[in-house]
Amino acid sequence: MNTQTNLGGTFTFAGAAMTVNRMGYGAMQLAGPQVWGPPRDPEEAVRVLQGAIEAGVNHIDTSDFYGPHVTNQIIKRALHPYVDGLVIVTKVGARRGADKSWIHARARQELIDAIHDNLRNLGLEQLDVVNLRVGDILRPSEGSIEEPLTVLADLQRQGLIRHLGLSNVTPRQFAEAQKISKIVCVQNFFNIAQRDDDSFVDDLAAQGVAYVPFFPLGGFTPLQSSELDAVAASIGATPMQVALAWLLHRAPNILLIPGTSSVKHLRENLAAAALQLTAETIAKLDSIAERRSAQTLG
Ligand SMILES: NC(=O)c1ccc[n+]([C@@H]2O[C@H](COP(=O)([O-])OP(=O)(O)OC[C@H]3O[C@@H](n4cnc5c(N)ncnc54)[C@H](OP(=O)(O)O)[C@@H]3O)[C@@H](O)[C@H]2O)c1
Repeated sequence: MNTQTNLGGTFTFAGAAMTVNRMGYGAMQLAGPQVWGPPRDPEEAVRVLQGAIEAGVNHIDTSDFYGPHVTNQIIKRALHPYVDGLVIVTKVGARRGADKSWIHARARQELIDAIHDNLRNLGLEQLDVVNLRVGDILRPSEGSIEEPLTVLADLQRQGLIRHLGLSNVTPRQFAEAQKISKIVCVQNFFNIAQRDDDSFVDDLAAQGVAYVPFFPLGGFTPLQSSELDAVAASIGATPMQVALAWLLHRAPNILLIPGTSSVKHLRENLAAAALQLTAETIAKLDSIAERRSAQTLG
């Protein structure tokens, strides 16, 4: 049952016949500490996923390297068979070392294996969207992505992938990718305190390409700011809700995937879509964002 109607409106991916609510859910926090192993509370993880779907979320972000495998297996356990219209976006291009490190995995066979791991662990025959993750952990670094993207485009032609996206990329890499395949979304590090991609967001908006900020709440070091706290208190919201509402307001192509392992935080985050920010509040938040974007709030 869809118990929540306002999830920030909808976004239709240009040329992709795929529409999602702008407020989605990021599943990375469902694995154990450091995104490794099983969650501390597996039943709560299932409740979070089922609660998201009940509230109308139809966009879930994941990867088979979360856990590894654990997050996708929980998604399958909680939600399979999937409701019509649910878009599960996954990413490939990395693997986990035994020491829990994040290692590039963009060789042809590594990408093929990753696609099959995602299909098996999610219980799907075709992946809705696959992001090729490049760059370093937080930021992109220049360099051609032709080789790995060509591998994914081949798998797309074979019918294993519906749409392709990119993660941790520069505008130059996005332009290179567009010559190889249609790209429906970009997932980069962006939030009220981290605005390196300001002009990239606008360029993608003009092309109808979704921009999906990762770490919208600051990630492993959640956003902390007395200024953000003051704005939130003045409108009867929480700082996290205000950070999400600011992103929704920032550009129409921004889709949110805040991550949480708790039903309480899930509800709080989804409710942010209904927050009405006045022009005065937005001006205050913009000025906080501008002053703080060179440093990290958290
Ligand atoms: N492409 C990439 O390279 C990349 C990198 C990182 C993440 N991602 C994707 O982006 C998604 C979002 O990132 P993320 O989950 O790492 O970071 P995030 O959404 O910025 O923040 C998650 C953190 O905030 C806490 N939190 C969530 N809601 C809260 C609330 N209402 N009040 C207080 N604390 C709250 C969570 O703890 P609790 O669990 O206690 O709520 C967790 O510690 C991930 O799920 C993943 O799918 C992609």
